[in-house]
Amino acid sequence: MGLLQTLAGPLAPHIDSLPTWLVIVTALASLLTLTIIINVANQILTRRSDEPPVVFHLLPWIGSTVTYGIDPYAFFFKCRAKYGDVFTFVLLGKKTTVCLGTKGNDFILNAKLKDVNAEEIYHPLTTPVFGKDVVYDCPNSKLMEQKKFVKFGLTTSAFRSYVTLIAEETRQFFSRDAPSKRFASTSGTVNLPPTLAELTIYTASRSLQGKEVRERFDSGFADLYHDLDGGFVPINFKLGWMPLPHNRRRDRAQKKMAQTYMDIMTERRKEGNLEKEEDMIWNLMNCEYKNGTPVPDKEVAHMMIALLMAGQHSSSATITWILLRLATRPEIQDELLEEQRQVLGTKADGSIADMTYEDLARLPLHNSVVKETLRLHTPIHSVMRVVKNPLPVEGTPYTIPTSHVLLASPGVTSRVAEHFPDPMLWEPHRWDETPAEKHAHLAPSHVKEGVVEEKEDYGYGLISKGAASPYLPFGAGRHRCIGEQFAYLQLQTILATVVRDLRFKNVEGVEGVVGTDYSSLFSRPLNPAIVRWERREKK
Ligand code: HEM
Repeated sequence: MGLLQTLAGPLAPHIDSLPTWLVIVTALASLLTLTIIINVANQILTRRSDEPPVVFHLLPWIGSTVTYGIDPYAFFFKCRAKYGDVFTFVLLGKKTTVCLGTKGNDFILNAKLKDVNAEEIYHPLTTPVFGKDVVYDCPNSKLMEQKKFVKFGLTTSAFRSYVTLIAEETRQFFSRDAPSKRFASTSGTVNLPPTLAELTIYTASRSLQGKEVRERFDSGFADLYHDLDGGFVPINFKLGWMPLPHNRRRDRAQKKMAQTYMDIMTERRKEGNLEKEEDMIWNLMNCEYKNGTPVPDKEVAHMMIALLMAGQHSSSATITWILLRLATRPEIQDELLEEQRQVLGTKADGSIADMTYEDLARLPLHNSVVKETLRLHTPIHSVMRVVKNPLPVEGTPYTIPTSHVLLASPGVTSRVAEHFPDPMLWEPHRWDETPAEKHAHLAPSHVKEGVVEEKEDYGYGLISKGAASPYLPFGAGRHRCIGEQFAYLQLQTILATVVRDLRFKNVEGVEGVVGTDYSSLFSRPLNPAIVRWERREKK
């Protein structure tokens, strides 16, 4: 009772005559006040001039978690105005140092392997979802080999077949006689986020993942995917190990899904058709680590799951934003159609000719629509690393200690007027002047005139270090995305196919696009996001 009496403060003399609940509430309020006072005093009195300023916060451990979680960009821009490009905030008890600007991107994304580490931070969340011995559940050198296998499996001939498969899947999905009956009439409304998540997974599975995986999506695989995805939530950075119901479902789904991939491999070997398919399973089944060990089936299965999860959220959010943005700009949809007519030509019946992989590079407006959408709606708003050695930040008096986590947000530089005039305006034509070779998606493509792009091979082929670019939706450095070319192919093919058949516009009374949902790991449009569609008259 002694402590309770102390905390009860002014009520202490009357404590015996008061209801217990009132005493407890008063005690808790006092405890909270005391905690806040100590935390604030601590921030003022222990401020170190050799470390970045700490974003002012009332509660320890919680720190700025809520403000950051609701809208990371609003939080970053506000802090940038107050503290500059380098500052620290408390995220679920962890001191997290944000480095903004092109220098900040370079500092974190191109930091040396001995100085920063990705797997320590991503592992608790990703390993239970992907499975063991791949991506962040292995040494970085092994990840680099795995990235090489995937990247080298994405061959031109594979890409050629993917364009046909994705276009076909998309045509069927939006056709009048699709089993879903969603687009059975000539016009209607559609809630884009869940609809396009479905299309994205069908197109990725039909192409990259292989036809057996696509077939399984018509049966129980979708439920497995859903349960597995339930484990891909930010709270699992901390509580991924806990036997909570969603984690139990995740673990069951992971085992079943990995087994499905292994069954597919066994079946393929039995049938002896190892070379017939151009998909990633086939490619990985034929890869060998540097030490001569073939990639075990279990690792192939886990890599396939990792690719499915890595691509699904970012691509599905992006295609949803694309159609939402186009619904606000119907004239751009007409321009896209015209571009296809001009470049691809028309068939005898007046319809636009089929598209090939090579054609994608000849459709600059399609490319710019994807590019502009990724600029303003970068799916990954925060990229994190653990600090392994004290890191001096060039041009500042600060050294980041090993107790901190680093956070880069390339999405901030792509929203700054200095690099992109009128940055919050979605305008695909801002890329009109981009030289054709910069549309190649082999390197970050917004590099200032006269700046030489530095390239490096981290073990999975030569890539641009991207240091000078304010446009890095696919990251930079050793952890850079290897799915960029596939993502562009998938997004452009879906876009080109859908604008041929349908026209989108906002439902009456709605202006602009919905807000962004930052509550998952990826930035995505808020659900529901309903638009009106109508079928184009066939010419
Ligand atoms: C890494 C973005 C699609 C597979 C990354 C990173 C970013 C990114 C920013 C760097 C993460 C970091 O540094 O911590 C995107 C965007 C996509 C997309 C914006 C689509 C619009 C895909 C697809 C695949 C994929 C389709 C698979 C086919 C990967 C892999 C990594 C990666 C394997 C490497 C992780 C590492 O090395 O740590 N992606 N991605 N991504 N992405 Fe993507």
